[in-house]
Amino acid sequence: MLPWTVLALLVPYVVAAPASSDCTGTISSLDDVTDAVECTTVNVNSFTVPAGETFTLSLLSGTTVNINGDIAFGNETWSGPLFEVKGDDITFNGNGYRFDGGGPYYWDGEGTDGGVTKPHPMMKVEISGTMTDVYVVNSPAQCFSVSNTGPLTLSDITVDNSQGNAANSASGSDPAGANTDGFDVAGSDLLITKSTVINQDDCLAINSGSNITFSDNSCADGHGISIGSISSDKTVSDVVISGNTVTNSQQALRIKSDADATDSSVSSVTYSNNKATGITKYGVLITQSYPDSVGTPGTGTTFSGISFTGGATTVAVESTAEMVAVDCGSGSCTGTWDWSDLTTSGGEDGAITNADISGFTQ
Ligand SMILES: *[C@@H]1O[C@H](CO)[C@@H](O)[C@H](O)[C@H]1NC(C)=O
Ligand SMILES: *[C@@H]1O[C@H](CO)[C@@H](O)[C@H](O)[C@H]1NC(C)=O
Repeated sequence: MLPWTVLALLVPYVVAAPASSDCTGTISSLDDVTDAVECTTVNVNSFTVPAGETFTLSLLSGTTVNINGDIAFGNETWSGPLFEVKGDDITFNGNGYRFDGGGPYYWDGEGTDGGVTKPHPMMKVEISGTMTDVYVVNSPAQCFSVSNTGPLTLSDITVDNSQGNAANSASGSDPAGANTDGFDVAGSDLLITKSTVINQDDCLAINSGSNITFSDNSCADGHGISIGSISSDKTVSDVVISGNTVTNSQQALRIKSDADATDSSVSSVTYSNNKATGITKYGVLITQSYPDSVGTPGTGTTFSGISFTGGATTVAVESTAEMVAVDCGSGSCTGTWDWSDLTTSGGEDGAITNADISGFTQ
């Protein structure tokens, strides 16, 4: 028999022996989450997340998540988020099941600017890896917030807030849904592709980051594809917007910086092969006057190298809309602006201020 002193020495090794993560965890309620995320395969069954709680997945590196049923969220006026996923090298398979944010319960036409408190963002994504085939319906306000920890591809994502286009008893004559941004991005090395957004605000809004590609997506009914609004001390660089379709939206393509922003820049943005129709305010709007569309531009943000090259982008606007408006502060729009692959039609010429654009006339 071993003396007790030797046994005592062995105890820490037994206790510390790592549990294997090579297992499958199954989630059918929030009670299952803590144990399930100890495994590198996580299967999620259909369930309703209790009102006022976030469904958070803090995953081990290399985890595969399989959504195997619809997820609903209890209705309550609180700030959210409703769903959050974190981890590196994650494979997230949505399998087309629905995440239902219960938007109509909250919508009052005021979004996050007023009215009732709405949980937002609905879907907070802080992973690297891939996320595919996720179907989100009726986000209370902003839908996806993406701040990825490493290279990330989002593909075949749907944000369907079409129900928010109609007015309701709380919104008067305005659409009930508001500030229902599709993707709000603060991250680098990001590809968002083959996705669909039907909403009442920006389809995409890039707030900071580099090496961001938005390709082959469809945006409808909202405010179009945006970089910004850029606030102080933000950098956006190396953005490609290609092969997208924008329909029935206020703008098609927009870059906006806050008029009072300082020490910020947006550089190397390329638009190619996009197609927009039914644009009601501005086809292309590049402005340093935000929140005004065209106003008194600030000079604290530099926009450089904004180009329409590499394939025809066509923008058809309504007759009362402006085809292109560029509102730069003096000396704040720099570099080469080659717009030779942009064609606009249908509306009025907008003003182009403090920008040296080549290859394009409205
Ligand atoms: C929340 O309310 C909305 C709108 O009435 C409804 O569609 C949704 O099913 C509700 N969610 C739950 C979990 O009951
Ligand atoms: C740019 O981002 C994409 C998408 O995540 C990634 O595959 C690629 O490696 C990145 N490029 C560089 C130069 O880091």
